[in-house]
Amino acid sequence: MKQKVAIIGKGNVGAALKRGLDRAGYETKITGRGGARAAAEWGEIIILAVPYSEIETVGKELGDSVKGKTVIDVTNPLTKEFGLAIGFTTSAAEEIQKRLAGAKVVKGFNSVFASCMDSGKVKGERVSVPIAGNDDAARKAALQLAGDIGFDAVDAGPLSNSRWIEALGYLNIQLGFMQKMGTDIGFKLVH
Ligand SMILES: NC(=O)c1ccc[n+]([C@@H]2O[C@H](COP(=O)([O-])OP(=O)(O)OC[C@H]3O[C@@H](n4cnc5c(N)ncnc54)[C@H](OP(=O)(O)O)[C@@H]3O)[C@@H](O)[C@H]2O)c1
Repeated sequence: MKQKVAIIGKGNVGAALKRGLDRAGYETKITGRGGARAAAEWGEIIILAVPYSEIETVGKELGDSVKGKTVIDVTNPLTKEFGLAIGFTTSAAEEIQKRLAGAKVVKGFNSVFASCMDSGKVKGERVSVPIAGNDDAARKAALQLAGDIGFDAVDAGPLSNSRWIEALGYLNIQLGFMQKMGTDIGFKLVH
């Protein structure tokens, strides 16, 4: 049976993932401000689809409700000037793992645009989504979920590899906005 997925954040990403997961047959709940704890208590997998700057607030709200659960971090840690806020020696996902001790944090979906998050496809072609996490079962659950939406889900190993997945997400943003390629783009790993 498919797991219950709680999505924190009702923006572009949260809404698109909900559409994709609903279509794939998952039971989902999506929430905005003030609803994180109740949604996380209900869910078996929790998706953090909020700005990285909100993680401290959301983390406090979640408290121990995510203990033992898979938490998928979708954030791209950006500065106000649109730079990458963190990298090389740590990552947003690793910082979230420190904050949510007891949760099984997995990084994923940050390297693709929201416009393909309900299908896993860009211009009809499956795009690759690297997924990293230290807990094997949690990483596998996230890989399954990504594949069920329609992505080419790539097992990217331990959570520390989030440093490079976040850099890839940043390159995606650079290409989409600064290089003006638009958001109808995505990376494909040939394997
Ligand atoms: N957009 C993309 O293509 C894309 C792609 C990959 C990754 N990401 C990452 O995904 C995350 C979400 O991006 P987005 O584009 O969906 O942003 P967005 O459209 O601005 O949505 C963010 C949502 O989070 C909600 N939120 C903020 N603080 C919250 C809190 N404390 N509790 C519950 N909800 C809260 C916001 O609510 P309010 O409206 O009340 O502020 C808003 O609905 C970001 O970390 C971003 O870097 C985005």
